[in-house]
Amino acid sequence: MRIETLAVHAGRRVDPATGAVGTPIHLSTTFERDPDGTFPRGHLYARNSNPTRAALEECLRDLEGGAAAAAFGSGSAATAAIFQTLLPGAHVIAPADAYHGTQRLLRDTFIPWGLAATFVDMTDLAAVKAALRPTTRLVWVETPSNPLWKISDVRAVAALARAAGARCVVDNTTATPVLQRPFALGADLIVHATTKYLGGHGDVMGGAVVARVEDEVFAGIRRVQAAAGAVPSPFDCWLVLRGIETLPWRMRAHSDSAMRIADFLVRHPRVEPVHYPGLTTHAGHVLAQHQMSAFGGMLSFQVQGDRDAAMDVAARLRIITRATSFGGNESLIEHRASIEGPDTRTPDNLLRLSVGLEHPDDLIEDLAQALD
Ligand SMILES: Cc1ncc(COP(=O)(O)O)c(C=O)c1O
Repeated sequence: MRIETLAVHAGRRVDPATGAVGTPIHLSTTFERDPDGTFPRGHLYARNSNPTRAALEECLRDLEGGAAAAAFGSGSAATAAIFQTLLPGAHVIAPADAYHGTQRLLRDTFIPWGLAATFVDMTDLAAVKAALRPTTRLVWVETPSNPLWKISDVRAVAALARAAGARCVVDNTTATPVLQRPFALGADLIVHATTKYLGGHGDVMGGAVVARVEDEVFAGIRRVQAAAGAVPSPFDCWLVLRGIETLPWRMRAHSDSAMRIADFLVRHPRVEPVHYPGLTTHAGHVLAQHQMSAFGGMLSFQVQGDRDAAMDVAARLRIITRATSFGGNESLIEHRASIEGPDTRTPDNLLRLSVGLEHPDDLIEDLAQALD
C-alpha cells in the first residue's frame, strides 16, 4: 500500500465488539484474565499495553516499514528509552547539532549515568569514522537537523555503524516517513517526536521508537516502556492516529509552501543566509534530493544585524505566531538561540520558521511587512 493509504488504514480495523469504524479510545487501565489465568485478548495492564496504543504502534510500524514500534509520552521519552537500553561504558556518537534536548539528555543524564558520547559533524563521514570506538553501540543521526537543516548521509553513516558493530538510529521527526525512508537506507531504529508533524495539530505530546527488526535491542526498549512507564494516554494515542490520517497531504503542502517562502527570503535584502535544503545553495541540497522526496516544512533564516534585529522582525509578524515547536497547522517562528540557552551554537540573528498550512502568499506578505 502507498503511504496515503497506510496513513488512513494502518493499525485501524472495525471494532469487532461494536462495529465502530473509528478507532475506540480504551481508557481501562486493566484487562480481564481468563479462568485459566491467561490473557487471551493480549492486554494485561495499560502501562504494558492497551488497544488504542497498540493501534498507534501498528500504524507507526507500518508507516515506517518496520517490524515493531513502541509509543511514548514525548519524543524525549522515546529518545531516553533508547539510551536506557545501553549499559554504562557504552559509547554513543551523536550530531553536534542534534536537537538540543537530545544533547542535554546525553550531557546531563546519560553521561553522568555512565555512557560515553562524542558529538561530531554528522555530515562529515571522516569525522564519524574517526569517532567510532570498540565500545560504540549507537550512532545517532538527525536529518534534516534542527535548526540549520543540515543533511546527513543515512546510507553512509548506517554502513559505518554496521561495520563497527553499532546500531544507527535516525530521528525522522522533521522529515517524517512521508519524505524520508530511513530503513531503506540502512537505519536500525527510527525515533519520532509525534508531537510534531505526526500529531500535526499542536495539541498532543508523543514519541515513538520504530525498529527494523524485532530483536533484543527492541525487547530492551519494550522493557523500558513497560517498566519506566513513560507511556502516552489512550486519548493522546488517538489524537496522533487521527493526525496521521492527513500526514502525507499535509507534508506536501508544508513542503511546497516552505519552498516558496525560502525563494522569497533568499531574494530579500535584509536576509542572509536562508537555511533550507530545497535551495540549490544549501550544502546538503543534492543529498536531500536523493534521500528525501520533498524538502519539508522547516526553514531558518538570519536577519541582517544582531539578536535585536531578529527579535524585531519576529515581534512585527501578524499571522505567524512567536512560539516554540513545529509541525502544526499554524506557522510558528522562534528565536532559537534564546530557547537553546547560553551554550547554543545557533547564530543570534537566526529565526526558525515552521511553515504551516496557511496560504503561502499570506505568510509571504506577513514576512514582507515584518522585514520592511
Ligand atoms: C528533532 C526532534 N527530536 C525530538 C524532539 C523531542 O520531542 P518532544 O518535545 O516531544 O519531547 C524534538 C522536539 O523539538 C525535536 O525537534
